[in-house]
Amino acid sequence: IAHGKPQRATPWWVSARTALLQHAQAGTPRYVYDLATVRERARSLASAPAVDRCFYAIKANPHPAILGTIADEGFGLECVSQGELEHVFATLPQLSPQRVLFTPSFAPRREYEAAFARGVTVTLDNIEALQRWPEVFRGRTIWLRLDLGHGEGHHEKVRTGGVAAKFGLPVARFDAFLAEARKLGLRISGLHAHLGSGIDDPRHWREVYAHLAGLADNVGTVETLDIGGGLPVPYTPDAQDFDLANWRAGLDEIKAAYPRYGLAIEPGRYLVAEAGALLLTVTQVVEKDGVRRVGADAGMNALLRPAMYEAYHGIHNLSRLDDAVAAAFDVVGPICETGDVLGRDRLLPLATSEGDVLLVADAGAYGMAMANTYNLRALPAEHVIA
Ligand code: LLP
Repeated sequence: IAHGKPQRATPWWVSARTALLQHAQAGTPRYVYDLATVRERARSLASAPAVDRCFYAIKANPHPAILGTIADEGFGLECVSQGELEHVFATLPQLSPQRVLFTPSFAPRREYEAAFARGVTVTLDNIEALQRWPEVFRGRTIWLRLDLGHGEGHHEKVRTGGVAAKFGLPVARFDAFLAEARKLGLRISGLHAHLGSGIDDPRHWREVYAHLAGLADNVGTVETLDIGGGLPVPYTPDAQDFDLANWRAGLDEIKAAYPRYGLAIEPGRYLVAEAGALLLTVTQVVEKDGVRRVGADAGMNALLRPAMYEAYHGIHNLSRLDDAVAAAFDVVGPICETGDVLGRDRLLPLATSEGDVLLVADAGAYGMAMANTYNLRALPAEHVIA
């Protein structure tokens, strides 16, 4: 009997199973992305009445087909490096620079110059850059990223506010920044705060908006409040879908309280995580000291999230999807690190064996984007289902 646990929708890859097994024949490790899921997620956010502008944080997954799909839904794109900026304009040459944000961290001077030359919106998050490079910023219009004093999110390594984080101007230095900006004739047209990634509480974003609005009232030139990304997805079997209705209602309410400002969001994960799966092939199955391990042809080199954040991803034997899951295995990769574990104690069919195709679920965000060639293993292939 289901105990009040809302049933989640069957993931796209269940019905795509036969096609996925064929794609796996072309070689694994291989990421597969379902564009219909990306489109559906983009619409679910962009249709929120309180949201005026959406920017996709391309660091989550910069695949050209994904950028095109999301841009077609009216999203702008958020970039954090000159490499991301160049990738965006190479992929979408028609894209107006007004739809692009540049939100770097500790970037070299030339990247700010390049971004201004492109005409994109530049977000700055410290005073020192103004003092050191006044000629880069004189007379410009920028957005200012603030650290609202606390970080949020699924792991300490993804919390981007508070003393331990390198991001954002502390609110205590806000007036000093305004004074420095005034000297340079620098206009602040947006305030920004992104406090972390994978934030479960749907009230978080309305609180950020309220905090930024209170600060913006003292500036006079602010048009837009960017309340960041950080929307979560349900990775674990018992996680609930994000309460989007509650999120929307909170934004409606706060927008009504402070109607002067445009509201912008910049999600990454929410749009692409569930749209992606990583296909792997079983190499060896080994029992050692009572622990059964299934080895796959890629591990932390293809998907770093479990090793880096203890992140959970569902793992399924796609070749035996209808078999009972009867035994607990640790699923490991081929990398020479003890931490190369994709999942511990995962239930898989007892017959799982060499050549079976494993599917690692919800791998569309920060999967391929963080893949690496450690141990000189090849990067995964990528494949898109339109
Ligand atoms: N805006 C800014 C300024 C960001 O730094 C980020 C993510 C986002 C937006 C998008 O956040 P999202 O909506 O995806 O949570 N590699 C980690 C996540 C790092 C996020 C970095 N910044 C992970 O795999 O969980």
